[in-house]
Amino acid sequence: MTVSEIRAKFLSYMEMKGHKVVFSSSLKPENDPTTLFTGSGMQPMLPYLLGQPHELGKRIADSQKCFRSQDIDDVGDNRHTTFFEMLGNWSFGDYFKGEEIVWMFNFLIGELHLDPKNFYVTCFKGNSNLNIPRDDVSADLWKKTFKQKGLDVKVGENPEVDGIKEGEHIFYYDERKNWWSRSGIPKNMPEGEPGGPDSEMFYDFDSDLSKKIHANSKFKDSVCHVNCDCGRFLEIGNNVFMEYKKVGNGFEELPQKNVDHGSGLERHACAVNNDEDIFNIDVFNEAKNTIERLSGKKYRDDEKVTYAYRVILDHLRAGTFLIGDDVLPGNKDQSYFVRRLIRRSVRFARNLGIDKNFTKSIALSFIEVYKDEYKNLNEKKEIILFEMEKEETKFRATLEKGIKEFEKIGSRDISGHNAFDLLQSYGFPIELTIELAKERGLNVDLVGFEEEKKKHSESSRTASAGKFKGGLGGDGEIETKYHTATHLLHEALRQVLGEHVEQKGSNITSERLRFDFSHNEKMTDEEKKKVEDLVNEKINEALPVKREEIKKDEAISRGAIGLFGDKYGDVVTVYRIGTGEKRGDTNLFSMELCGGPHVANTKELGHFKIVKEEAVSAGVRRIKAILS
Ligand code: ALA
Repeated sequence: MTVSEIRAKFLSYMEMKGHKVVFSSSLKPENDPTTLFTGSGMQPMLPYLLGQPHELGKRIADSQKCFRSQDIDDVGDNRHTTFFEMLGNWSFGDYFKGEEIVWMFNFLIGELHLDPKNFYVTCFKGNSNLNIPRDDVSADLWKKTFKQKGLDVKVGENPEVDGIKEGEHIFYYDERKNWWSRSGIPKNMPEGEPGGPDSEMFYDFDSDLSKKIHANSKFKDSVCHVNCDCGRFLEIGNNVFMEYKKVGNGFEELPQKNVDHGSGLERHACAVNNDEDIFNIDVFNEAKNTIERLSGKKYRDDEKVTYAYRVILDHLRAGTFLIGDDVLPGNKDQSYFVRRLIRRSVRFARNLGIDKNFTKSIALSFIEVYKDEYKNLNEKKEIILFEMEKEETKFRATLEKGIKEFEKIGSRDISGHNAFDLLQSYGFPIELTIELAKERGLNVDLVGFEEEKKKHSESSRTASAGKFKGGLGGDGEIETKYHTATHLLHEALRQVLGEHVEQKGSNITSERLRFDFSHNEKMTDEEKKKVEDLVNEKINEALPVKREEIKKDEAISRGAIGLFGDKYGDVVTVYRIGTGEKRGDTNLFSMELCGGPHVANTKELGHFKIVKEEAVSAGVRRIKAILS
């Protein structure tokens, strides 16, 4: 069964059980400043778990795109990926354990045809300090469902010590394993966060019970049980019975009992195919073929090759989806992860002997695989490929030199100064330096690195204050283009939406422009297109951009827009785009107060594209746009 078939089966199964199916939210949380990425299906459901009514009712299901940045370093084994899809269904104060457990069993065994003999579950052991009892209700329900398939399963008492005995399929674990909230175990939960005991589901890839310890286990001397890390059992899903809310040091029952089920779609595919290697599922086939073609090495050639393949497959799939959700590679916040993912892939591709740009072709294979389900990938294809290529080219330009530089440091630990130099001159994210150091048994002075970084950001602030005065080089040129594009956008918005549009904020990086403006409604697709078209029209008209220093009163009378604060003094600098003298002249497009810098002619800007339009606060919208 393919990933796409399993996804469809799950959603139609849940639809049959009265759920409304919704589309995945963005990987970049819309209204949640507390977290960088959507890392579970429940995240966008948080308000409804706390009691806010969902417009589609009390039963919702979806397949949610997730990105777990904290798993980057675990990628390389047979099961970890940073990006995955989480199949989810929710009861917002509707059904509870009885329905959920029976449905799960019937879906996995009845619909996906997993052998119940390879199916195991865990339940919460209870904790008297938290005043939360053992979850016998769930354990009994599981027992009954197994029985319907003719399996009289037993509850194992002490799996961590005794392992698994014949016939045991249900186990109790404490809150370190069988409790779920977004912040983890009860102790870590902030006031007000919902959570609860959970019941996890596992698939056994080696049904020979006489083999207590899996052959490949790195834990050869310890006992194998469902929660050990040896690779024999794979957690394929989790049912959270979200009925508590953290208050003080304890818990209070929520007004409603919720179910939050989440299953790894890709992990279901592993179980269905009875193959514990997640990188063997169909969605990776095309990308694997491409890597093989480019490197001449096969996925299973040796451990190092397999590792590199897995890093590339995971990271570039994640990168493709993230850029598809408008997270472009860069230096800050979410963008930094995309940068790291791409750079790390390029570094591992080098280990496979791929020394030419390749990320674009891998991204393309993922777009092909997912384009029916995730139409945005196809719509944003050009941007995804462009950004991949750009980031890769930038990094490749310095990668070899950087590696040489790294080797030169020799067998000494890496000082803060060296680590910073690797970042600054060769674009090595600090995590990459740490990884390279680790491979050679070296340490990195992270405190020293932070100090160097701080020192640098102070001096670069001073430098950038003067930068616009003198010559512009490198990223400065790109930023200048974005300054001019911002003026075009500002005016285009006023012409398309109305003169109420006023600048509320602006931020420019070498990757994009961000422009906040007063407007009450979400822009329609048609409005966005009109704005884009108008800006591109003005770019194509190759209009001159002229700087002028004039009296404030004159600027106002000639119709310049901008913030006429006192700080500007009597004489102000205005930039005109077009040859006209004042607003209203047919050959003048924009006239705006600004300190610059700007390009000399709009033809230098290339192509303008809006990548996002969203709300910032009441009455203020934000546009992010790029030039390519
Ligand atoms: N929210 C639960 C999880 O992520 C289902 O495991």
